[in-house]
Amino acid sequence: MNDFNFYSPTRFVFGRGTCDRTGDAVAGAGHRRVLIVYGQGSVVRTGTLDRVRASLDRAGVTYLELGGARPNPDVSLAREGVELLRSEGNVDAVLAVGGGSVIDTAKAIALGACYAGDVWDLFSKRAAPERALPVDVVLTIPASGSEASDSCVLSNDELGMKCGLNTDLNRPVLAVMDPELTVTLPAYQTAAGVIDMISHVMERFFSGEPAVPVTDYLACGLIRAAIEAGERVMADPRDYDARANLMWTGTLAHNGIAGCGLGVPGKRDGDWTCHGMEHELSALDPKITHGAGLAVIFPAWMRYVWPAHPERFLTFAREVFGIEPVDPAVDDLSDFDEEVTPERAQADAITAAIDELQGFFVSLGMPRTLGELGITADDIDRLLAGLKQTRGERFGTFRELTLEDARAIYESAL
Ligand code: NZQ
Ligand code: ZN
Repeated sequence: MNDFNFYSPTRFVFGRGTCDRTGDAVAGAGHRRVLIVYGQGSVVRTGTLDRVRASLDRAGVTYLELGGARPNPDVSLAREGVELLRSEGNVDAVLAVGGGSVIDTAKAIALGACYAGDVWDLFSKRAAPERALPVDVVLTIPASGSEASDSCVLSNDELGMKCGLNTDLNRPVLAVMDPELTVTLPAYQTAAGVIDMISHVMERFFSGEPAVPVTDYLACGLIRAAIEAGERVMADPRDYDARANLMWTGTLAHNGIAGCGLGVPGKRDGDWTCHGMEHELSALDPKITHGAGLAVIFPAWMRYVWPAHPERFLTFAREVFGIEPVDPAVDDLSDFDEEVTPERAQADAITAAIDELQGFFVSLGMPRTLGELGITADDIDRLLAGLKQTRGERFGTFRELTLEDARAIYESAL
């Protein structure tokens, strides 16, 4: 078990109707004047924004507003928010009302307001962040885990890039989590969220480091919870209990607890190659939903890299899907036309688990191929050029990959 340094300062106010208690929670965090950031209108249509405003009014918290954060948010709105704070001043927190795209825009504004130059410098790594305003969140979609994560992911359309910035300064102070707010989600977004949260656990589980039972059982339990709640929510979108389980799973999947002890010393707590490869898809086409991209990339990566650490995949197969390699000593092997070596039995079990996972993704309405996302073989060189800029020529800890390996993975998913 490797050393770790885990900081999770977020207060979670969770449950039915908590949206109407946002004002008290924000005031309780010591924030008297906030900048509300929201997306492209869902919170207006659902009435969530009005409820948040009313709650802030009741608590005596004043606010400015900035709407329009789009999925895979562009840096331009963050820049606008920073300008707004510079001209208005006196704001002591940024309040995100929405999903990962809104929260990440809010995080970028919170960082940019405390940095003298252009906020993109922090994402291009030209400068390191030193301070940030506090961020509060009212979460409307369980997916990114941004309500408690140390990450902020921003696109730059002008440069054709999408970059993540990881710092504990990004961790929100407060997350109001009202599962009832998520019943209005389109099924596609609910499904993409399920895949994103499962991916956050898997990026850490497959870090390439040896087993850490306390973290591994937690991780596999989170994946099972996401699968179970995901199936229930797709069958009945109004199932409160399933919505609530999904919401909390999404947070635990990405606040860092699912990676403790699995981090490679001196690096992040996980491999994160699939996220890197997916971010290039949504940098190329911002209409690609992050979780849908991951639904294609993750199984393709798994099929390519599993021989580097079959033991991790065998644990995954057993703990998540109850799949064990066949054992010639006890199992009936009459269906097999050739000798079943232990290696063959393990490979079959691992492939069956990856098939099961991908089958689950597809059953939620997610794509199996890049083609379904509009990506063709002609796009791969551009994806690799982006990957080289954001990840370099070698990346990954489960198995170190080159850009040619990434090409092979993209091609296998076409
Ligand atoms: O923009 P509005 O109108 O609000 O609509 C949104 C958007 O179209 C809609 N939506 C959200 N809540 C809703 C709702 N519609 C109806 N009812 C509701 N209750 O759903 C759509 C997707 O929203 P978005 O915020 O983009 O989703 P998500 O939470 O999946 O965030 C995706 C972004 O987060 C980044 C992704 O790369 C992507 O840019 N990530 C951020 C991470 C982090 N900061 O820790 C980690 C992740 O790995 C991820 O990279
Ligand atoms: Zn993600």
